[in-house]
This record gives sequence, structure tokens and C-alpha cells, in this order.
Amino acid sequence: MTTAIRFNPFQPEFHQNPYPTYDYLRREDPIHRSFLNAWVITRYADVEAILKDARFCVDDLPQRLLQKSHYLKHGNLDPLAQTIYQWLFFLEPPDHTRLRGLVSKAFSRATVEEMRPEIKIMTQDLLANVQSTGQMDVIKDLASPLPAMTVTRILGLPPEDYPKLVRWSYELFFVFDQPMSLQGYQKQNQMAIEARDYLTEMIGRLEKQPNNGLISRLIAARDQDKTISQEEIIGFCIMLLIVGQETTKSLTGNAMVALLKHPEKLAQLRQNPDLINHAVEELLRYDSPVQVIARLGTETVEMRGKTIQAGDKIILCLGAANRDPEQFTNPDQLDFNRKNYSLPFGGGIHFCLGAFLARVQGQIAINAMVQGLPNLRLSTETLDWRESITLRGLKNLRVTF
Ligand code: HEM
Repeated sequence: MTTAIRFNPFQPEFHQNPYPTYDYLRREDPIHRSFLNAWVITRYADVEAILKDARFCVDDLPQRLLQKSHYLKHGNLDPLAQTIYQWLFFLEPPDHTRLRGLVSKAFSRATVEEMRPEIKIMTQDLLANVQSTGQMDVIKDLASPLPAMTVTRILGLPPEDYPKLVRWSYELFFVFDQPMSLQGYQKQNQMAIEARDYLTEMIGRLEKQPNNGLISRLIAARDQDKTISQEEIIGFCIMLLIVGQETTKSLTGNAMVALLKHPEKLAQLRQNPDLINHAVEELLRYDSPVQVIARLGTETVEMRGKTIQAGDKIILCLGAANRDPEQFTNPDQLDFNRKNYSLPFGGGIHFCLGAFLARVQGQIAINAMVQGLPNLRLSTETLDWRESITLRGLKNLRVTF
């Protein structure tokens, strides 16, 4: 008997609008066995429970990548695999606790608040480049460069290098999208090689001339307390460059589309600038930049009559959980007064390290456009969504004002 494919994240229709699929699954088959050989979880309560349950561990993507090298005619995927081996997403305690502890202060609420004035200036400078033209591509002109400039600044890298980082980050984020073609892996491997060479050179420079950026502090931790290795610094910085950019870029893009498609909400925000923090929380729920995250079962767990075994892959659909009617009244409506407990940043020990930073950048960028660009309108009806399973984000977003 053939089973209908209910979850196919490779289809263009799914990238265009995943929410009808999520609605169906949440209602009819909330613990869905997909053709991808994974359990697809769509209800808020189940996603939240798994995130906090130690019987589920992180994905083993780095090991799987190393095995893929056997299929290559030339070379191997070692640079890519070595790089992502150091990412917090794929680590469990005690390594996860050690590495996260080393950098958590750089992303704390207090540190991020100190950066707020600087992020505002960067935003104003970027908008000043387009202000007189009456049109812009929100992604290219603001949503993409702002987080790239911010993360460059946090790491203590030369500000003029940020365009290079934009390209690596766009391509390397696809590593979360599994499975992928061998060409895809090879392209990412090449990006990993370039990013590793660049960071090795930068670490060398910062050893001689330290600054107050995060890399210099990690170099000190390597040399003085031996709490981090050179390999971990390289992998870790590449992780921050990538996840720090792509996600925040999508937050700004997705939020602006949602506002432009709901002019009454745009007007509400324009008249009540103090609503911006609530609005950003709601926009993060409404069209979450990170749609899915992965976990593995470590023992047999029964859920809603289904049996998840040790080693089974699990896809947690944050985008579906954040529209669950059992958790949110009228979930498909934008409501800035909603009491929000949504899951755009995941949960448990892997809760997003950059959540404060992302929120502050989103608040500043969205507020600047809403308040500073009168008569803001979409220039096109057709939206060009990125072909990604993990990330929901636009390739471009043309507006006039
Ligand atoms: C709107 C923007 C953002 C969204 C929606 C987002 C979403 C997420 C989600 C869902 C996770 C959990 C992954 C998992 O459990 O498998 C996560 C983890 C993480 N995020 Fe973010 N993120 C955003 C911005 C940022 C920024 C700006 C940074 C850093 C500059 C960042 C760094 C990280 C890191 C390092 C982790 C791994 C944490 C760990 O495993 O302990 N994120 N993020």
C-alpha cells in the first residue's frame, strides 16, 4: 500500500507556504513517519516536551558528513565535518557546557543592550544609502548587511571584511538542510575551506595584536586556561558567522512581508512605536525564521500511540508548533497584544545563544523602516523564498516608499 507523502519539504509549494501542510499534520498525524525516514513533530506540546527531554539528543550530522566522503571521487568532506563538529548544535555536555559558558557573556542581555546604540547607527547608515531613491531591496540593503556587520564587530574582525562573510554564511547555512546532493556538500566544503583559511589568518593577526572582540578573548582562554582549542575557536567562529547572519536576516525580511501584507498592523505599529518589542515577538511566532530543528532518539519513547526508537531521527517543526491552535488563539492572525510563549528560538539547553541579539537587531531594523520610510509598499506580488528546509527566508524583498 502506498502512503501519501504528507511532508515534502523539497517541493516549491512548501517553500512558498508551509502552513497548510503543518495544519494537516498537526490535526491528522502529529507524530508523522515521513518518507525521509524521520518522525515529523508538529504540535506545540510535543515539540516543547522533546526539547526538554534528555532522552532525545542532538543530531549526529558531523559523523554522517564524514561518511559521505566515501562517495566522492576526489577529496573528502573533512574540512566541512571538522568545522561543524565544534558547533554547539551538535554537542552535548560536558563539551557543550564548557564552550557555551565561554561565550555566553558576549550574548547576554546586558552586553547586547550596550550594543544597541551602535546597531542603531549601522541601521541608519544603511538606510541613508537608499533613502533618497524611494526604493530598496530590504534583504540586500538592510536585512543582510546589518547582522553581518554586527557579528563581524562582536568577533573583532575588520569591518571591511563583512561582504566575504555574507557569501560564506548564505551557502554554509544549507548544511542544516539534510539530505543534500553530493555537489551541494562539495560546494559547502569549499566554503568551509575558505572560511577556515580566513579565520586561521585572522587568529594569527589577533595573536600579535589583540583587540576587545570575542576572538581575542577566546585566544586568551586557549593560551591561559586551555579551556578551548585552536580547532574549536575556528569552528565556533564560523558557526557564529553563519547562524548570526542568516536567521536575523530572515527575521527582518519575514517580519516586513507580514507587515506589508497586513497594512492595518503596519499602521498600528507606526502609530504606537512602543509596541515594537511585542510586535517582534509576534512576528517571530507568525513566520519563524528557523522552521525545523533535528534531534535523535536515544531510547524507546511512546508518544501519542507511536513508538520512537533509539537512533530514530526527529524533525521538530517549530514553524508548526508556533501556529498550534491549542496554544495560540487564532494562530494565523497577527496580534501584537498576544501573550506569547512561542518557540522561535528552540528550548532546553540548546536554546538560541543569540536570542537577545536577534531581537534587538530585529527591533531596530523593523522600527527604522516602519517609522522612517513613509508609504512603504511591496513592489511585487511574487515572493522569492529560499529553497531551504530549515530556514524560512526571502532571497529578496523589493519595496517602494
Ligand atoms: C531571529 C534570529 C534567530 C533565530 C530564529 C534563531 C533560532 C535558533 C534556534 C531554533 C536554535 C535551537 C537549535 C537547536 O536546538 O537545534 C538556535 C540555536 C543557536 N543560535 Fe540562534 N537564532 C537566531 C539568531 C541567532 C544569532 C544572532 C546568533 C549568534 C550570533 C545565534 C546563535 C545560535 C547558537 C550558537 C545556537 C546553538 C546553541 C546551543 O546549541 O547551545 N542565533 N537558534
